[in-house]
Amino acid sequence: MMRSKLVAGNWKMHGSLAGNLSLLTAVRQGASDVGAEVAVCVPFPYLEQARSVLSGSKVGWGAQDVSQHAQGAYTGEVSAAMLVDFGCRYVIVGHSERRSYHGESDELVAAKTEAALAAGLTPIVCVGETLEEREANVTDAVVTRQLDAVLARVGAVGMARAVIAYEPVWAIGTGRTATPLQAQEVHALIRARIAQSDATVAAGVCILYGGSMKPNNAAELMSQPDIDGGLIGGASLLAADFLAIAAAG
Ligand code: PGA
Repeated sequence: MMRSKLVAGNWKMHGSLAGNLSLLTAVRQGASDVGAEVAVCVPFPYLEQARSVLSGSKVGWGAQDVSQHAQGAYTGEVSAAMLVDFGCRYVIVGHSERRSYHGESDELVAAKTEAALAAGLTPIVCVGETLEEREANVTDAVVTRQLDAVLARVGAVGMARAVIAYEPVWAIGTGRTATPLQAQEVHALIRARIAQSDATVAAGVCILYGGSMKPNNAAELMSQPDIDGGLIGGASLLAADFLAIAAAG
């Protein structure tokens, strides 16, 4: 099956109203010539700015987290419906920085995925092993466990509307990228696991690689059969790099 590529930026906790304007404007302009889908996931306060600059362009936007609750007394949380109010198409869930610094469990990530889907968002569900886990040869078990929690909650029907991002924790922000073969191996595992629930959904699901993807390694990574794009941290803050990665998709 021919899957379209997606290149999504994860700005993390970076940006300012003044600085974002030139970045968003450059991405809007540059993305019009690239074949891949392009999106940026910005900090919550900048969603309105993303909407104002990117509306009417091919670039989608989204947030980096969402509450599992629909509404209520959850101080500091942001619901999926609120993200929809700001025109979001995407939301990152279960990023390793949320899992490790905020104690997000597999079950919580699954609940957030479900909340995002219920509101009509496309969740970008992150999975990936730590360096310790890779060295202990438990990468497959860890990724399978993280994926199974989501599958158990939303089923193949939900998975059909989600994006998965394989992000080995040891590659995030370190400049140490997984080799194309290392990444491909895990991407194939993810697709095979989803195929156990539904082969058609598995064939169509978009699986991104994330972790020090840069202009000089993006094309080789994205030419792997099961790598359908990238989730880009550091390089998404530089318009030229981000657009070069998108063009490689
Ligand atoms: P990086 O981050 O590209 O800076 O490694 C990727 C991510 O955390 O999504």
